[in-house]
Amino acid sequence: MTQEEARQKIEKLSLEINYHNHRYYVLSEPMITDYDFDMLLEELIKLETLFPEFKKPDSPTQRVGGDITKDFRQVTHKYPMLSLGNTYSEAEILEFDQRVRKSLTDNFEYVCDLKFDGVAIGLTYVDGILTQAITRGDGSKGDDVTANVKTIRSIPLKLQGNYPAEFEIRGEIFYPHDGFKKLNEDRIEIGENPFANPRNAASGTLKMQNSAEVAKRPLECFLYLMYGKELPHINHYDNLQEAKKWGFSISNNFAICHNTDEIFEFIDDWNEARKTLPYDIDGVVIKINSLQQQKQLGFTAKSPRWAIAYKFKTERALTELLSIDYQVGRTGSITPVANLRPVLLLGTIIKRASLHNADVIEQLDVRIGDQVYIEKGGEIIPKIVSVNLSKRKADAKPVTYITHCPECKTELYRNEGEANHYCPNYTQCPPQIKGKLEHFISRKAMNIDSLGEGKIEILYDNGLVHDLSDLYKLTFESILGLEKTFPASAGKKERKISFKQKTAQNIINGIEKSKEAPFEKVLFALGIRFVGETVARNLANHFQTIDALMLADYETLISVEDIGERIANSILEYFSMEANINLINRLKVHQLNFSLSKQTQLLSNLLAGKTFVVSGVFENYSRDHLKELIQLHGGQNTGSISAKTSFILAGENMGPAKLSKANKLGIPIIGIDEFEAMLHKKSAD
Ligand code: IVH
Repeated sequence: MTQEEARQKIEKLSLEINYHNHRYYVLSEPMITDYDFDMLLEELIKLETLFPEFKKPDSPTQRVGGDITKDFRQVTHKYPMLSLGNTYSEAEILEFDQRVRKSLTDNFEYVCDLKFDGVAIGLTYVDGILTQAITRGDGSKGDDVTANVKTIRSIPLKLQGNYPAEFEIRGEIFYPHDGFKKLNEDRIEIGENPFANPRNAASGTLKMQNSAEVAKRPLECFLYLMYGKELPHINHYDNLQEAKKWGFSISNNFAICHNTDEIFEFIDDWNEARKTLPYDIDGVVIKINSLQQQKQLGFTAKSPRWAIAYKFKTERALTELLSIDYQVGRTGSITPVANLRPVLLLGTIIKRASLHNADVIEQLDVRIGDQVYIEKGGEIIPKIVSVNLSKRKADAKPVTYITHCPECKTELYRNEGEANHYCPNYTQCPPQIKGKLEHFISRKAMNIDSLGEGKIEILYDNGLVHDLSDLYKLTFESILGLEKTFPASAGKKERKISFKQKTAQNIINGIEKSKEAPFEKVLFALGIRFVGETVARNLANHFQTIDALMLADYETLISVEDIGERIANSILEYFSMEANINLINRLKVHQLNFSLSKQTQLLSNLLAGKTFVVSGVFENYSRDHLKELIQLHGGQNTGSISAKTSFILAGENMGPAKLSKANKLGIPIIGIDEFEAMLHKKSAD
């Protein structure tokens, strides 16, 4: 390939990828499969590696991240990044309207927009290229988080159409509900504490030092405000509509309102409809439409006079903070939990609320005996949002965070930059032992479901299990007849669990069957901090045996897909502890799989993360053979089509019901040629 050909190809691929990114992430109307998209991206990455002189700062390959930022550079905002005063009452909107009417002589319009609950960001575009992304900071200076923001797929790196030469566009970066749920599930899976809410998670993610990590997170962004000398229109509404054409993700839900009645209608409608949105909004922002009139109204010291934010009322309850408990997780992380005087909120009686960590307690400045406001946000666990200081008792003292583990009395530690305290007594601290056992038997790990729901606790209380290997020493006789009554808690009634004949036998059978669990499941089940399901699979495929993994040094570990500094260090620490080596040796005696069996040794990872439904009749393959091939290349098979299916591999005579379901869900149907092409990539490399 000549230089010129490479340049042209890079240009063409970039345009094509940008186009598909926009269709997928902004319009939600993908035109090609994820697989085809990945192929285009991979081709571009290859070409840019061969011809780095043609790699541009707006290349779509920037989306995968990789830049490490040690300290975020502070940048002065060209236009101060102000916030708005919040109002909760219609009366204040009426007052706002009165003030506006007094100042403006001509007719005017409002634009009502949803108030997205995320992290504010200012994006600068020069000649259509994203050059800078800055957080609000203190309003006059913010952090330069450009490398991280470039990984957010719904933010265009390069604009289309007729955009101004230079302008700034502001918006809100947030996690949609499903992305947030998955993020927290993943955190729990690797032994981390979940984020308190999507906003905290978004702000934490934007400040991550490794942009490649940010690239894996499903952040999204809506833009809602523009600044610049040459904006195309004289009003806000039309400018936003125009920005949509340049490729920005602009909400479809903003509207022009002519008077306060229309504003109240907008607010009422969205107060109801917000429950159906896939992301959080916490109110409505009301702005004057004309830029000229905005200018006329100007600013107060803190915020513009041309806009106001109305916050939806959330149901709150006031109650007393009685005490704080400290819970210990399976990796030793400490979570403070507030015990409250029981109070009714939205139909449930609230007795406890998470306080997350020492920083949250400090920020709230909450003290024992305080009257606190409780809210149930989008999250299931209620939270303390503020303290009623007027009711504080004179002798109330700030909370002194515990220094020693409440369960085993070991001194706690807290790593620089981490929010949580940890108990380092990993092998002897009771909740850590129970937590590790619970994780070990869980569905994604060893899947011993006959041991779920409190049964581990019974075994532990009776001194039968202390570490994971003790499970394999249990006998029918040793567990028969054990029982425990669990008091009512968290909405569940009191219940008694007894190991009768059938239960006991099921437990023993389940434990025996778990010995068949493949190496990657066993590795995940060990509960090494930061080693989730995917990381365990990559490690198993790479090292093939636990012995090879135990011998791996830092450099070798970080050369494995998806393994960074943090995970590598955690693995090294795990295997540096004698207790863990002894545990693995004991588990080996019980014949757990500590290497990939011949059968499960993967040929490649080409289909990793893809789920197939194989349907119909094929000329040169049996269906079973195809399923085996899918597995050998890291993919998964399922029998029925769902939204989670990646592809349908269809032969002759695929059933009409399957066909119509696939079409309805928009799942790509591929033939045997396309399937073979997917696998061929390997031999072509
Ligand atoms: S316009 C001068 N529009 O809420 C600020 N802001 O309390 C004008 N926000 O600072 C902001 N959704 O961080 C605007 N549709 C929206 C918004 C929005 C969320 C945030 C933003 C702003 C704060 C106002």
